[in-house]
Amino acid sequence: MNSQLLLSTPSIYIFTFFLIGLFSLPISFCQDDENFEQCFSRFDCGDIKNLTCAYWTDDRPQLCKQEGFRLTKCDDGKPVILIGRYEFRMIYLNYFTYAMTIARNDLWEKICPENPTNVTLDNPFLRYSPTNRYLTFFYNCSRSIPSSPNPNPFRCTEDLYSFYADDLVERARYGDLSDSCDTAIQVQVNQSAFAELQNQTPQRLEAWEKGFDVEYNLAEIFCSACNSRRGKCEILSSPEHPICIYPGMHNLLTPLFFRLICNICILPLVLIAGPNSQ
Ligand SMILES: *[C@@H]1O[C@H](CO)[C@@H](O)[C@H](O)[C@H]1NC(C)=O
Ligand SMILES: *[C@@H]1O[C@H](CO)[C@@H](O)[C@H](O)[C@H]1NC(C)=O
Ligand SMILES: *[C@@H]1O[C@H](CO)[C@@H](O)[C@H](O)[C@H]1NC(C)=O
Ligand SMILES: *[C@@H]1O[C@H](CO)[C@@H](O)[C@H](O)[C@H]1NC(C)=O
Repeated sequence: MNSQLLLSTPSIYIFTFFLIGLFSLPISFCQDDENFEQCFSRFDCGDIKNLTCAYWTDDRPQLCKQEGFRLTKCDDGKPVILIGRYEFRMIYLNYFTYAMTIARNDLWEKICPENPTNVTLDNPFLRYSPTNRYLTFFYNCSRSIPSSPNPNPFRCTEDLYSFYADDLVERARYGDLSDSCDTAIQVQVNQSAFAELQNQTPQRLEAWEKGFDVEYNLAEIFCSACNSRRGKCEILSSPEHPICIYPGMHNLLTPLFFRLICNICILPLVLIAGPNSQ
């Protein structure tokens, strides 16, 4: 009975097949291009652990290099990433929702830069969180600021005022305010940082180390890279670790069968295949 089962050709086939599957799965996750697998190897940067695709450093293979997710350095325990022309400090990363809290590096270092500018994220995969609040920083205003219910001053120079205002509440007065100030920039801040700021008395901006929230979709980013290499992207089995399959690479197997083997948990398949093969 036992030897009959062992010798039956289909069961040997199936057994060997699952054995190969079991051994290769932990190493490759069935990624067709092992370079893609390297994009998922984890690294730490300061306080933030287990960074993986879509984040990358210069030593990663070319296909991991996703604009907007490049880590330029770990500074003061925080990853610094380059998005377009601007550097941002990553304060917090939620691995499950793909939301990160980032702060402008120029304002982190110096709330009163020489030449304050508006910075926008110019990246198709990064979206501002709708819960961010908008503030406007007014720099170098004359002392004759129209009396305001809630001026939140901060000091850049001895003789000139700078202050910030909440766009939601004070936008209507911005015309007047701008007239008495050198320049103004709009800055986003996340909900909890905003609440923290509101709770301070007096509210102080000098030590501005606050970030705003940005969201992205890993599958969207990965699949775009995979598709541009004529691969087919597979996300159903594990959205946090999508795989890229190159059609035509699996001559011995039909692609559908190959994908089933890769992606569905192997154990139930073995159990189903067992009784059937007798
Ligand atoms: C990073 O990954 C390791 C190994 O999987 C895990 O033990 C650890 O809790 C993770 N750390 C964070 C911050 O997610
Ligand atoms: C504010 O005024 C100071 C002193 O005049 C100057 O050095 C600085 O560049 C000005 N800043 C802005 C943002 O205009
Ligand atoms: C920044 O953006 C605000 C709002 O769009 C605008 O009023 C302001 O002039 C801009 N500041 C600079 C320095 O471009
Ligand atoms: C805001 O930023 C803090 C870190 O400063 C982070 O812990 C928090 O999750 C972020 N998001 C919201 C919605 O507050």
